Amino acid sequence: MTKISLGKSSLSVGPIGYGCWRFAQSTAKEADLKIRTALDCGMTLIDTADIYGLGEPTGFGGAETVLGDVLKTSPNLRGQMVLATKGGIDAVRPYDSSYDYLMTAIDNSLMRLRTDHVDIYQIHRPDLTTAMAETARALNDMVKMGKAKHIGVSNFTVAQTRALQAHLDTQIITTQPEFSALHQDPLTDGTLDWCQETSATALGWSPLAGGRIFSENNDVIKTLDRIAKTHNSTRSNIALAFTMSHGADVIPIIGTQKTERIIDSAKAAHVLLTAREFYDIVEAYRGTPMP
Ligand SMILES: NC(=O)c1ccc[n+]([C@@H]2O[C@H](COP(=O)([O-])OP(=O)(O)OC[C@H]3O[C@@H](n4cnc5c(N)ncnc54)[C@H](OP(=O)(O)O)[C@@H]3O)[C@@H](O)[C@H]2O)c1
Repeated sequence: MTKISLGKSSLSVGPIGYGCWRFAQSTAKEADLKIRTALDCGMTLIDTADIYGLGEPTGFGGAETVLGDVLKTSPNLRGQMVLATKGGIDAVRPYDSSYDYLMTAIDNSLMRLRTDHVDIYQIHRPDLTTAMAETARALNDMVKMGKAKHIGVSNFTVAQTRALQAHLDTQIITTQPEFSALHQDPLTDGTLDWCQETSATALGWSPLAGGRIFSENNDVIKTLDRIAKTHNSTRSNIALAFTMSHGADVIPIIGTQKTERIIDSAKAAHVLLTAREFYDIVEAYRGTPMP
């Protein structure tokens, strides 16, 4: 299976990633099966965040704890994955990227994940009240201490990403925007252009729009279904293929909790949309032909 390099780093991963947002609802045994299935399907980028679990009985840190339990039972899995977590959302404030907060947050994440480092530490959302220079100081220190191998951002505008980058000692290797056939902002807000400018990799979150592609019926959905017929494929795999068809080589991060759906999603990496089909999905979203 094709591998995609993450930024200019030596890390490379399969073309589809697996996200653990909904992991707090799983037992360690169930989560173990999902992670093994994802890895077997070449989904070697495993994405989580410290906040995942908030609102569930497990609370803040719940999803990382479940993944940590998997890694405790099966430590050999750690070396098979590129592990990415996120910090910087505080349940109350609600965003905190201050030095002290982040340095404590990464230690707590590592403890829950039962690992001594993450491959990518991402700032989950920009904290407008903290200077980028201060956030960068924390990220630089994490990298120096070996707690984070690389740095990423999520839900940052291009300007915010550049402002943070200006104070970092290392290159930001990933940016994580919402991206799906039903949420196409990264095509036009500069995110994917910035990725190509700097060789950073975009990790598209909720590539099936969090399940909305199954509950909505609009021109985008009709277009996905029409293209699916041509490719003898499914609506969901055409939606995933759409996110992978941009020249920036976006990695969609899927979030299904069903192993059979993880296996089926892997087929999307082999669906090659024509440029016309890609633009059909863009035009259906725009509601008007390309200018
Ligand atoms: N950076 C951020 O701010 C941010 C925000 C959100 C998410 N994320 C990341 O993105 C990952 C994926 O997010 P997501 O879970 O929203 O992704 P998604 O893959 O777009 O949506 C998953 C949802 O779609 C449903 N689904 C999948 N296949 C289906 C099918 N064939 N029929 C009906 N329903 C189906 C799943 O239900 P089942 O489980 O029942 O299959 C699940 O509820 C997260 O785990 C996280 O790592 C990041």
